[in-house]
Amino acid sequence: MRLTLRIWRQKNAREAGKLVTYALADVSPHMSFLEMLDVLNEQLVGRGEEPIAFDHDCREGICGTCSLVINGVPHGPERATTTCQLHMRKFHDGQTITVEPFRARAFPVVRDLVVDRSALDRIIQSGGFVSVNTGGAPDGNAIPVPKHAAEIAMDAAACIGCGACVAACPNASAMLFVGAKIGHLAHLPQGHPERTSRVLAMVRTMDAQGFGFCSNQFECEAACPKEISGLFIGELNREYTRALVRQKQEQPRVPAAGRAGMSGGTG
Ligand code: SF4
Ligand code: FES
Repeated sequence: MRLTLRIWRQKNAREAGKLVTYALADVSPHMSFLEMLDVLNEQLVGRGEEPIAFDHDCREGICGTCSLVINGVPHGPERATTTCQLHMRKFHDGQTITVEPFRARAFPVVRDLVVDRSALDRIIQSGGFVSVNTGGAPDGNAIPVPKHAAEIAMDAAACIGCGACVAACPNASAMLFVGAKIGHLAHLPQGHPERTSRVLAMVRTMDAQGFGFCSNQFECEAACPKEISGLFIGELNREYTRALVRQKQEQPRVPAAGRAGMSGGTG
């Protein structure tokens, strides 16, 4: 295959970027999209030019690192597929392909096609975990989980944190990502002790990181390589509303003197 590639080049977040056109010949349809970029980079290095920076790690569709917008679509034209699992047979000989970074205010460009997605990490750091001491590994089935709850939790846990939902959303909303994380833990007994504080903290952090609000476009669901359902956004809204109601009820009813004693380490 012969391809014309229009690729976003940008030295850093402070300098303006632009699309640069490259011609690439002898592309095998069996190559992955990232292998095709590897071949282009080998040619650029051979000519003494700067290779194109792009993110990747597992190349198996599980780490969520690869992050390209291909012909306007995060992760490209194949549904439920990460960029690293996309193959060149999905394109045709003579095609022009435009490759850009994920674009969102919360994802500043680092270089070329690499963006900083640590805003998603900060949302997880604010509450996307279970912090109770669970001790050693429990025996199998020691904590009963209803089958339908386990299946919903597993569907939500499929999120790989790639950020394509943010890049696809006209408002750069992270609500599908946050909804998946909230839904995952809300359906498991281990997630219940921190159910209220978790969603309050994660929504607060999501807003502070500059992500927008959901306006029911569902572009996120269409772009998601793990087919996370937009229903998790509804679940996020319900969990957040529940938490707003419950937060006052769940505050510890300890006298002021007692609180001072506990904070002094006698707890
Ligand atoms: S919800 Fe889907 S698109 Fe969004 S971060 Fe998770 S896997 Fe990626
Ligand atoms: S490189 Fe890991 S999901 Fe694509």
